[in-house]
This record gives sequence, structure tokens and C-alpha cells, in this order.
Amino acid sequence: MRYLITYYTEYRKNAVAEIRKVDEQAVTEELMLTSTVITTKLDAKQFIERLKKSRPIFIRHIMPIQREVTLTYQKEKDLQLILNKAKEICNLNKKDRFSVQARMTEGTGMYNAKDIEVYLGEYYEEQGCEAIFSNEVLMNYDIHVISVVVKDKICYLGYSLAEDNLNFQCNEYRVLASEPIQICRAENKLKEAICKFQVRLEGEGNALDVGAAPGGWTKVLADYGYQVSAVDPGKLDERLNTYSNITHYRDRVENIRFDKPFSLVTCDMNVDPLETAKFMCRIHNNLAAHGYSIITLKLPTRNEEEKIQNSLKVLKDDYNILAVKNLTHNRREVTVFMQNKR
Ligand SMILES: C[S@@+](CC[C@H](N)C(=O)[O-])C[C@H]1O[C@@H](n2cnc3c(N)ncnc32)[C@H](O)[C@@H]1O
Repeated sequence: MRYLITYYTEYRKNAVAEIRKVDEQAVTEELMLTSTVITTKLDAKQFIERLKKSRPIFIRHIMPIQREVTLTYQKEKDLQLILNKAKEICNLNKKDRFSVQARMTEGTGMYNAKDIEVYLGEYYEEQGCEAIFSNEVLMNYDIHVISVVVKDKICYLGYSLAEDNLNFQCNEYRVLASEPIQICRAENKLKEAICKFQVRLEGEGNALDVGAAPGGWTKVLADYGYQVSAVDPGKLDERLNTYSNITHYRDRVENIRFDKPFSLVTCDMNVDPLETAKFMCRIHNNLAAHGYSIITLKLPTRNEEEKIQNSLKVLKDDYNILAVKNLTHNRREVTVFMQNKR
């Protein structure tokens, strides 16, 4: 069986290592900068179950490759070719819920990924199936997913359930990046973590945001309704001046003593991950009992895995680690979602 995995450009080695932990014999072939074809002799169900259980950090998405078709770059002809292949691998019943997720490395100039999604989607809708667009539904229910990837003139197709893809979208950057950025790119990083880790934010009480400048995360938290203490020696974006629920402590965090309790703590400081971990342990008494925290660990250029594990070891004294992931909006870093043990 063949699969296509995706990852951040610089973490191919790490993503492939995660596959090898599941199947030592897996054969890998780089397809693009951010994706590799995996061939495994393991039983498909067993392979995916093991992979999910291993909770990979660097693999962002996986799809089976069950069909391949050579394209002509003529719109009508190609869309029909792709649909014919999709029909061979995906037969849905009336009322089945489905999502077509397409990705193209470069435009053909004639049509784009959206055209493929619409063309296939309309066919399945005509069969009485229901197209699903909600991220939340995709993340929580058994949705049938038809994944389509076009690289040059080759189109790869796979059919799976959303929960077996390690991610609810094969091209989530396109989906998540459609949200307008207001302060900075980092804003979407926090929004993605909240969405992916399904964090329920009450927006009540105080939130602490460390390494806050220029204020993307601070704005997201303030918009939820928190009274935000934003800590950073750097300047916050002037547009945040109008927020009465943001207080900026313009200093390094090690110089500040906090005397109030926080319902939520976030930290995006660009420091060594062990420093972040130690700081988070220092602050955990200020975090509400079983309160949540979202942080990033900035990774070095070598021995990333070791750094992550050493930092998690420190964090585990005071937190239950709920998720660790190199998200779509992360570059050389991972986002950690955790809960105060106390
Ligand atoms: C990646 S930026 C944070 C971006 C921010 N999350 C946003 O959404 O705008 C990292 C920030 O960490 C801050 N930082 C680094 N060391 C710090 C420290 N010891 N205390 C507080 N902030 C620190 C830097 O000044 C920098 O502004």
C-alpha cells in the first residue's frame, strides 16, 4: 500500500523517522519538498492504527494513494479523468457525508485545486451525498475524504476516513490562511492550535501571554474576552491601544513576579525550549487548577527530537501534555497544548 505524507520542508527526516517507528521496512520516495511517498507492506488498517497511536509530531497529513492518472492540462478532460478514478475508489451511499480535498503543486493555468473539489463534489452531491465544509465536523465525525494531489502532470487519488488522515484537511494552509491576518502571521498559529487541539476557551478571567510582541496572540485572547497580561520587552502594535482588556508589561518575563491567577497561559518566547519549559513550571502555580496552556518550543537546527523530549520531561513535572505538533503555521517549532496537573 502507498501513502503520501506531508511535513514542513525542513522536517522530512523527522517525518520519515516517525514512519519508520511504525514500519522499519517502509520504502520512502520524496515527491515534493513537503511530501514523500511511503510504501508499506503492513496491512493498511494496522499501519494507520499504529501511526495514529504513535502520535507523530512532524507528519502533518497522510493520505492513501490508490490511483494515479496522467493529466492533459485540458480542463474538461482532466476533471473527467480525475472523477473516473475517484469513482473507482470511492462509492458512497445516499446521505453519506464527504469532503473532496485537492492540492496542486503549481497551477496548470487551466484549472486549480478548487475546480477539482467542485467538480467531484457536485458529482457526489448528485448521488445524494452531503458535502461537509465545517472543520469541526471534519474533525469529529467519520467523514469520507477523497484526497487529490496533482504534481506536474500526475494526479494521485486516495479515499479514506478523515480520522485516518492525521488531519482534517490535506491543504489546510489554504483553508486556515483564508482568515485575514490583523497584527501578524503568528496570530493564525494560535488560532490553528485552538482549532486543531479543540481547545474550549471560556474567555473569562485573566490570561497571561508571554513573548507577546507585536501582539498577534494577545489580540486573539483579548478578542475572546480575557483580561490579558502581555509580557514582552518589545513594542505591541499600536492598534492594540484601543483594547481596555490588554495590559502590556514591557519587560523580560524573568523580571516580573505575578500575583494574580490566570485561567490560561500562552507563551511564544523565542528562547531555548528548555528555558520556556522552566519558565512554564515556575508559572504553573499562577495557572488555574487544571487550567490550559498553549506554548511553542523553538527548535534548534540539530537534535530537534532530543530538545523536544528534554523540554517535555521538564514540563511533565507540572503539566499533562495533551498534544505536541508541528502545525501548519509552525516553522522551526512545535506547539504544545497542556494542562496544569494541579
Ligand atoms: C515570535 S515573537 C512572539 C510573537 C507573538 N506571539 C505575536 O503573536 O505577536 C517572540 C517574542 O518573544 C519575546 N521574548 C524573548 N525573550 C523574552 C523574555 N525573556 N521575556 C519576554 N519576552 C521575550 C521577543 O521579544 C519576541 O517579541
